[in-house]
Amino acid sequence: MKSANSPPSRRDTGTGPGRIRTRLLDWYAENCRWLPWRSTQDPYHIWVSEIMLQQTRVDTVIGYYRRFLRRFPDVADLAAAGLQDVLKLWEGLGYYARARNLHQAAGIVNRQYHGRVPYSRADFIALPGVGSYIAAAVLSIAYEQPYAAVDGNVKRVLSRIYAAAVPVNGPGAAAFYQGLADDLLERERPGIFNQAVMELGALVCRPAGPDCGSCPVRDLCMAQRRGDVQSFPVRKKRRSVPTYRLAAAVIRKKGRILIVCRPENGLLGGLWEFPGGEMQSGESPEDAGLRLTRKTVGLNTGAVHYLTRVKHAYTHFKVEADVLICDYHSGRVRLNGPADFRWISPRSLGRYPLTGMTRKFLPKLVKMLSSA
Ligand code: ADE
Repeated sequence: MKSANSPPSRRDTGTGPGRIRTRLLDWYAENCRWLPWRSTQDPYHIWVSEIMLQQTRVDTVIGYYRRFLRRFPDVADLAAAGLQDVLKLWEGLGYYARARNLHQAAGIVNRQYHGRVPYSRADFIALPGVGSYIAAAVLSIAYEQPYAAVDGNVKRVLSRIYAAAVPVNGPGAAAFYQGLADDLLERERPGIFNQAVMELGALVCRPAGPDCGSCPVRDLCMAQRRGDVQSFPVRKKRRSVPTYRLAAAVIRKKGRILIVCRPENGLLGGLWEFPGGEMQSGESPEDAGLRLTRKTVGLNTGAVHYLTRVKHAYTHFKVEADVLICDYHSGRVRLNGPADFRWISPRSLGRYPLTGMTRKFLPKLVKMLSSA
């Protein structure tokens, strides 16, 4: 056990940073949650957990983490797997570049480092998908190396403790908050300390409705002293995200349907969906369905049935898609955009890693196809 079992330090004296450190470590020893990745020292397992935890809630990650490691218990297993199997286990977790990078990085670790996660920061951070947060989190937790891990939660906690006016999403934020975190880091137990700050951010110093009454550093927190915790973190206003209007076509041919795979190096790379694309202004969904099937898969389709409209939000934009069922009419598949295709029976859809938007209309589609 790498976390709360070590005895908390009893010093609560000295400078501001020294007191904050001691208070955080003592609080963590008493209050940390039991989480599956906290009962291992295996650097690969910790790496997988940290990759999954980027941009994703702890509750969501637990099940994915267990299933992933049951299937790929060590680096060699992941390196030997096919990308489609990895994506299938990642399906629903989002940010699929994380899975593609982790898979690629496992191959490199297996070949170049005999399956052992590099100890050297320079070697580790050179791997795909390993940035300064992942490097600091993994190397501190697995190897007790003195690197401060700074993610969005940590920035929020630091911005409140120091009443920092630097916007957490602005251009200078990374260097500024990294500097604060480096100065605060407890260098003897950096892995536990990093997790203590994260845990405070998750349980007490929450984004909305922080529970300052239970905070171990309440009297040392500058935002609290000013009575102004809700003003931190400071954020620059983001431009509102655009919404794209899409049409997607489920093409039927003799009881089979056509699915296409997105190119591996792009957005949602390696995931499967139905052919489609952006609608033109003034175009009806039915016309868009016919046009886009000709354009993206080279097929002519006939009778079109409207299935549903789905909405889906990505990080930088939203989509609203009309989903159509089209009957195959003529032509051979010629791909223009997608990287691959399959004519499959609707029953086997579940075997493929699908985009989030596709999964949203699956129940309606299956119902419609089975009643047709
Ligand atoms: N968020 C990011 N890393 C985490 C960790 N190790 N434990 C809990 N939440 C986290």
